[in-house]
Amino acid sequence: MNLVKANNLTLAYNSGVIIKESTFTINEGDFVFLTGVSGSGKTTLIKAMYGEIKPKGLLQIGPYNMGTISKSKLTKLRRHMGIVFQDYKLIPEWNILRNVMLPLFIKGYDKKIAEQKALEVLKKVKLSHKIDKFPAELSGGEQQRAAIARAIIHSPAIILADEPISGLDEYSASLVMDLFIMANKMGITVLIASHSLPGDFNISYKHLHIEKGKIYELS
Ligand SMILES: Nc1ncnc2c1ncn2[C@@H]1O[C@H](COP(=O)(O)OP(=O)(O)OP(=O)(O)O)[C@@H](O)[C@H]1O
Ligand SMILES: [Mg+2]
Repeated sequence: MNLVKANNLTLAYNSGVIIKESTFTINEGDFVFLTGVSGSGKTTLIKAMYGEIKPKGLLQIGPYNMGTISKSKLTKLRRHMGIVFQDYKLIPEWNILRNVMLPLFIKGYDKKIAEQKALEVLKKVKLSHKIDKFPAELSGGEQQRAAIARAIIHSPAIILADEPISGLDEYSASLVMDLFIMANKMGITVLIASHSLPGDFNISYKHLHIEKGKIYELS
């Protein structure tokens, strides 16, 4: 089953076209690497999938056409997405525990249960000792791991992760990759944007590559 379908997809800012007439699909349960050099349009594609940029051509996610989706449907769709932004976008006034609980607040979870789940995933990303710190008190890599904890806590249908392992040391990177693999084994579709494919990687994946404004399905 196609979860994402792009047909003649074009993405542009006022400054110009970034992605031009590209066609690809992502199936439910796929593990996808999206590669391309800096400035090629990886974040732009993720933004379009998240509904921050209106596409031209077709970009369909689940039942929704991202070109015509209403505000209320977009809110609903986003509840099924886990997103790791390149700049993390943690809420500065909230401590790490509350930041990670956010998707569960949105889903209407009871506070005690939300807290318990957040503590569990914070343990998985090795941040149990930082739960009462604020984002500014964490290192870049720790913020990144908190953002990943927030993206997976509500078992979304799809995780969109923008450069989630760049800048992490080998140990933290493998920890984070293991989390994505575990999420994928649970049936969650995972898309990871990065400059290049990680070297040592033991899972079958789909490879989308952006080059000169075109998205290619390499495998
Ligand atoms: N808000 C914006 N307005 C206008 N142009 C933009 C905007 N955001 C990005 N761009 C341009 O779009 C192009 C693609 O940017 P994008 O952030 O998608 O690249 P990227 O592949 O994610 O790069 P990186 O690997 O450095 O994160 C760049 O040339 C950038 O200058
Ligand atoms: Mg980017």
